[in-house]
Amino acid sequence: MIVCKSPSELARMRAANGLVANVLAELQGIVGPGVTTRDLDVLAEARVRSAGAVPAFKGYQGYPATLCTSVNDAVVHGIPSDAPLKDGDIVSIDLGVVLDGYYGDSAVTVGVGSISGRASTLLRVTSEALARSIACARIGGRVSDLGHAVQQHVEASGFSVVREFVGHGIGTSLHEEPQIPNYGEPGHGPRLRAGMVLAIEPMVNMGQAAVRVLDDGWTAVTQDGSLSAHFEHTIAVMADGPVVLSRPNERYGRDAVRSGVTARSGAEGQGAQ
Ligand code: MF3
Ligand code: CO
Repeated sequence: MIVCKSPSELARMRAANGLVANVLAELQGIVGPGVTTRDLDVLAEARVRSAGAVPAFKGYQGYPATLCTSVNDAVVHGIPSDAPLKDGDIVSIDLGVVLDGYYGDSAVTVGVGSISGRASTLLRVTSEALARSIACARIGGRVSDLGHAVQQHVEASGFSVVREFVGHGIGTSLHEEPQIPNYGEPGHGPRLRAGMVLAIEPMVNMGQAAVRVLDDGWTAVTQDGSLSAHFEHTIAVMADGPVVLSRPNERYGRDAVRSGVTARSGAEGQGAQ
């Protein structure tokens, strides 16, 4: 069953996701050569806890950290480490939190120092694929429209869509129905209805689509060693169109509950990241 959220639940999800976006924005600002993904993780956990929230990934099926930090050929679920980031790397930073019982989940991939033209195209195309998918999240549309939009844009740009991991509904659990693959024909699957909240998360490889999981049991990497990018937003399907919940919030965490969710705030969020 796909749960549709009430206005008061949507306000809580906006608060959780606004916190995620604020922390991701701060992390993006400190990424650079010499910084370790452990540094990012320590800062993220401190920010999340001081906002009265709890990291959502830590302890989830035994996952050991607040962030997933996936560098270069790592696709998703990379575990923060003491290896310093290097000039030219790309790193996906994925953060989930629980605030007052509601989950937030968003990810961004950023360049470290100066990155190659191909790498920067990969980041742009993956983020554009997410924006196009979000634009399809309209009442009366279908879940498979979202993945179709991702696949179209990614493959037209000469890159590959990862098949093994999917986006998801989100609410009082990190993963709710429906699953949202990043590929497929449009017009299939559940119809989109007002109040659905979806975490859409394209994972795009520069080379072939195939991935494998490292011996740490978590880190997914491309089989061919090519670079991979990942962007994720949590969005709400609303009467006037999609609203991006995971965009930075002038008021932090809980305080955002009072600001609620409006179509106008969503329109502002469309250009984020
Ligand atoms: N954004 C990812 C997801 O929604 C991250 C999950 S990492 C895990 O599945 F550790 F929680 F599994
Ligand atoms: Co997710």
